[in-house]
Amino acid sequence: MPQQRSSQWYAGNNRNAYIHRAWMRRGLPAHAFDGRPHIAIANTASDLTPCNSHLDEVAESVKQGVWEAGGVPMNLPVVSLGETLVRPTAMLWRNMAAMATEEMLRANPIDGVVLLGGCDKTIPSLLMAAASVDLPAVVVPGGPMLTGTFRGAPLGCGTDVWRLSEEVRAGNLSEQDFLTSESSMIRSRGHCNTMGTASTMACMAEALGTTIPGIAGTPAPDSRLLETAHDTGRLAVQMVAQELTPSRLLSRGSFLNAIVALAAVGGSTNAVVHLLAIAGRLGIDLSLGDFDAAGAGVPLLADLQPAGRHLMEDFHRAGGLLAVLAEVRDLLDPAALTVTGRPLADHLDGARIWDETVIRPRGNPLQAEAGIAVLRGNLAPDGAVIKPAAASPELLRHRGRAVVFDSIEDFYRRIDDPGLDVDAGSVLVLRGCGPKGYPGMPEVANLPLPARLLERGVRDMVRICDGRMSGTAYGTVVLHVAPEAAAGGPLGLIRTGDVIELDVPSRRLDVGVDAAELRRREPPAAAVAGYAAPARGWQRLYVDHVLQADRGADLDFLTGASGPQVTRESH
Ligand code: FES
Repeated sequence: MPQQRSSQWYAGNNRNAYIHRAWMRRGLPAHAFDGRPHIAIANTASDLTPCNSHLDEVAESVKQGVWEAGGVPMNLPVVSLGETLVRPTAMLWRNMAAMATEEMLRANPIDGVVLLGGCDKTIPSLLMAAASVDLPAVVVPGGPMLTGTFRGAPLGCGTDVWRLSEEVRAGNLSEQDFLTSESSMIRSRGHCNTMGTASTMACMAEALGTTIPGIAGTPAPDSRLLETAHDTGRLAVQMVAQELTPSRLLSRGSFLNAIVALAAVGGSTNAVVHLLAIAGRLGIDLSLGDFDAAGAGVPLLADLQPAGRHLMEDFHRAGGLLAVLAEVRDLLDPAALTVTGRPLADHLDGARIWDETVIRPRGNPLQAEAGIAVLRGNLAPDGAVIKPAAASPELLRHRGRAVVFDSIEDFYRRIDDPGLDVDAGSVLVLRGCGPKGYPGMPEVANLPLPARLLERGVRDMVRICDGRMSGTAYGTVVLHVAPEAAAGGPLGLIRTGDVIELDVPSRRLDVGVDAAELRRREPPAAAVAGYAAPARGWQRLYVDHVLQADRGADLDFLTGASGPQVTRESH
């Protein structure tokens, strides 16, 4: 058996080894410290992260697998982020969760780690941590919830909240009916059942090669999730023996495979910032432009909400991610590895589509070219993104007059003001919602439309924001504008009435104001006051060090490879 990292704590007859073993001997046998691998189970179970509340049961299955393979499992509760509850936005805390997990893995006698996540930020933060500490790591995604129904129709969790609330504002649904649907929305344990951010990041983890292939999308209550969790515990022990660390497993090709998968399943725009951040932790050269270059020509094959019709339970039944990837196999890097030690491409043999209404064959795609479009122009010099699959085709080329809001509070104050000069052709602009400006880059970009336009049947308008959009949302929404207004980007200088030109086919986002005039303008004082850095704590650290969206919104001092070494004893 190779010398384990944990043996630095447990091996030997000196006082410190005695202390390390003795305090751990609460039922553990002596042979637990004979040099066998100790596997952490980084567990984001929390009652306040309802999408992950079942992960303790998953952890038990992982533990059994670890014991069976000759390892010693260690439950390690880590920072958990519930997307629906955490204020001001879970994204503000993603880097903190990643940093805390990284440091606790490094600080403890751990040889490998199984990562249990689900709700939006939990898999990204766990993968960022694992990439930084560079110990063998494997993900078990917690899985989506089962499909709930309301009055005979399936409910897409997240997506249908946006849709139903707009129908109330349009006067087509009573508030009482809306509230009645509340108890039907969440049918079971698990995360959101659309191809929102949680489902997307589970698919990204699998496409990167960091899960046992075939697990992404397995519904949380499905017994096969626990079976694969057990197998993952066994695998983690093998990975330690093989020294299969993230820096050996993950390559640029792994990330390009993830981008292909993102396009083919119509995944969330949030994957862009998360993949950039994970790659940044490994020192892998991945840029915003890669999302367009690798993803733009990929066909959209999964007919899933929010862009399509079906839900994750259907996706899993229809063959899941492996069935999708088998259709675009020629676009994948054949050498990119998985945690099994074999390339992802090897795991596609035998994968097939079982329901072509949910997963289309390559020859009959929903869209010939999907992916995330990266826009540039004088309004987004460092880039912005849009998900064309979730947009209205007729708005992908659009010229309109800007109606500018300096904050989300400003937006809600004025959007239904009868005096607001807005029509269906206007472009709604929301700024002050980037990483520094909010702070934390919240999911506010899918702005509700003015009620009086909703009543007239308008269901989409061009919207532009330096923040993010929920992965469960839809619409012609330009996101992640960089640099953000609070970082001095031109988005902070435009005014209501300026003409904005969006041209997705040409990948352009421009404002019809010349450079000299933009330079002359000052950002509005009220907006600037709103960007004042918090005085203390994590938020202060975050605002001082956060990178822009085109760099993954990680902290500048957390990028680049790190490693598992600790050089000093605790006593
Ligand atoms: Fe947790 Fe959607 S709120 S995944």
